[in-house]
Amino acid sequence: VGHIDDVQELKKARKTKIPNRFVRDRAERPMLATTPSPLSSSIPVIDFKKLMTGNKEEFHFEILKLSASCEEWGFFQVINHDIEVDLLDNIEKVAMEFFMLPVEEKQKYPMAPGTVQGYGQAFVFSEDQKLDWCNMFALGLVPHSIRNPNLWPTNPPMFSQTVETYSREIRKLCENLLRFIALSLKLNENVFEEMFGLSVQAIRMNYYPACPRPDLVLGLSPHSDGSALTVLQQGKGNTVGLQILKNDEWVPVQPVENALVVNIGDTIEVLTNGRYKSSEHRAVTHKEKDRLSIVTFYAPSYEVEIGPMKELVDESNPSKYRRYNHGEYSRHYVTNKLQGKKTLDFAK
Ligand code: SIN
Ligand code: FE2
Repeated sequence: VGHIDDVQELKKARKTKIPNRFVRDRAERPMLATTPSPLSSSIPVIDFKKLMTGNKEEFHFEILKLSASCEEWGFFQVINHDIEVDLLDNIEKVAMEFFMLPVEEKQKYPMAPGTVQGYGQAFVFSEDQKLDWCNMFALGLVPHSIRNPNLWPTNPPMFSQTVETYSREIRKLCENLLRFIALSLKLNENVFEEMFGLSVQAIRMNYYPACPRPDLVLGLSPHSDGSALTVLQQGKGNTVGLQILKNDEWVPVQPVENALVVNIGDTIEVLTNGRYKSSEHRAVTHKEKDRLSIVTFYAPSYEVEIGPMKELVDESNPSKYRRYNHGEYSRHYVTNKLQGKKTLDFAK
């Protein structure tokens, strides 16, 4: 992907015609609704504080809500999550400063094909594949051995430090959420922590410039996440962009002030034998407004073997997935284009 396919550069060039590479085939176009889906307001909101320090009743109620969210949506928004608003603001600030750098500067950190680290577009493998209306910058964080120091920008100056602090906080949130998810399944609360080992953690910043024809393009192709858990921060004052596929309808996720969007990834779907869903989602663009999202992926260590947990399999609920090595799944995920839930066929 050279300058020519960099969507921020396209926007600067002020061309009204969308290059062919971005124009989706008719069936893939987003069909943007003029009225918001009524389902939009039913995306569950989980009060993290009630899980951490609520009384018995509050805790129990929130756990029930959590399990219903994971079963029916695979998505929820978390409020009162304990992460300081300043930190949420700072990560957006450094991300925006990075995306606003001249393209030559950003391309000093190029994303290599088949990896999701650096600046560019991930999941692109052929000349005739359509491109997403999005610029990405991604970094592997944990374990340290996946880090490529050459890809950590020195500009903006606060970038690296802010990513480190943010990632530690999001990591704690993930660990806690996984404990509550285990409890909501009536499993030992440490089951995921013990299974995942050190875990794998990565961050991806997505920048979607305004697009003159949002009806023709996608910000991010439909996909489910390969992670166990994903935590997504929508930029302050952003337009709606994220949409979840629910009962064959694309439901927009309205940003809630200072909330974080959490979704179940393929790994938890497999571990729970399909009880908790890794939902297909996508991002659409806006005619006038840019949009930023900051996404953290939390997954098991590469050496971990994944398969339906024995507690969640029985005669009435036979195993739907095979056992496989998470590192292999991860490699499979990053070397294929985003294509709905197709990546999960690997586990069948
Ligand atoms: C993602 O699915 O990774 C990002 C979607 C978004 O930008 O909201
Ligand atoms: Fe995603």
